[in-house]
Amino acid sequence: MDIKSLIRNNILNLKPYTSARDIYDSTEGILLDANENSFGSTFIELNGIELNRYPDPHQKDIRKITGDYYSIPSENIFFGVGSDEVIDLLVRVFCNPGKDNVIIPEPTYGMYKVACDINNIETREILLNDDFQIDLDAIKEKVDEKTKMIFLCSPNNPTGNELNKTEIKYLCNELNLIIVLDEAYIDFSINDTLVNEIKNLNNLIVLRTFSKAWGLAGIRSGFCVADEEIINILFMVKAPYNISSLTRYALEKAVVNFSLKDKYVTSIIKEKERLKNQLESLQIVKKVYKSDANFLLVKFENAKLVQNKLFEKGIIVRDRSTQPKLENCLRISIGNEEENDILWEELRKIEKSKN
Ligand SMILES: Cc1ncc(COP(=O)(O)O)c(C=O)c1O
Repeated sequence: MDIKSLIRNNILNLKPYTSARDIYDSTEGILLDANENSFGSTFIELNGIELNRYPDPHQKDIRKITGDYYSIPSENIFFGVGSDEVIDLLVRVFCNPGKDNVIIPEPTYGMYKVACDINNIETREILLNDDFQIDLDAIKEKVDEKTKMIFLCSPNNPTGNELNKTEIKYLCNELNLIIVLDEAYIDFSINDTLVNEIKNLNNLIVLRTFSKAWGLAGIRSGFCVADEEIINILFMVKAPYNISSLTRYALEKAVVNFSLKDKYVTSIIKEKERLKNQLESLQIVKKVYKSDANFLLVKFENAKLVQNKLFEKGIIVRDRSTQPKLENCLRISIGNEEENDILWEELRKIEKSKN
């Protein structure tokens, strides 16, 4: 597919910000090019990280480490301040404000629409089908010559299920537009990622995050995997030093320590099964949806009442009832054992008070 034809003209013609370190690619030497503080940083030195210096704008270290871990060439990786930043950048790269449109199968993660709204891009919401799978006909009906992008999320937030991979690939092959596949929760799934398909499908962009399985929501780090042509354009558009030295330091340490991530994933999945079984034994629960993520979508008799009662006890869950097809549904993140025990106790009390 001709990716250039999908990119906004002003972005294609952009003269990106450059710094001396685009040419002088080293942290050694007498660095008098970036108006930093050469005397030092006001933050205590952290294992030799020089916080008085700007970080590498090319993200070389973290792309390499992450690429090696996930077996993805680093040329195909771009890091953002969380995948939320990547979502925003993608909308800005491909969609002309006030002209183009984006298709979003609902119910799904809310930031896709927010990013489009901020950038004045029309969103065409369609519904996932009753199994929360892609409705191919509905998508085809909505696509026109101004459609630039479709956002898909698998496993989907807040429904928890994975989308059919054959259908995702079909859309990539059939439609002359960008397919953004958000795999924020893929580490919790036993099924494969579509990351490797970017070799065959140059209009597929896969989003990943360190905020979920890796337990690093606080460092704000997510990335996308895509054809090098798209990655190069993202590098032109991003703020010069978007990923901080502290984030990079945390990432380097975390990826080396990947077995801890694996341990967390195992514990979260185990707790999810335990909570699912408990929830299914309650009369106030109408349905617990199958989840390949780190949360459960639960249909209650009266979601608002349950949410309020839990809130009174300091337990916060997300009401998703206003989203299409999710009447009376709460999304419950999987806590640790102790938190889940407390949740279970409170849910039992709500059940009892009802009888
Ligand atoms: C599907 C999905 N994508 C992306 C994000 C945001 O990830 P990040 O923390 O990397 O910005 C979330 C956060 O909840 C999410 O649910």
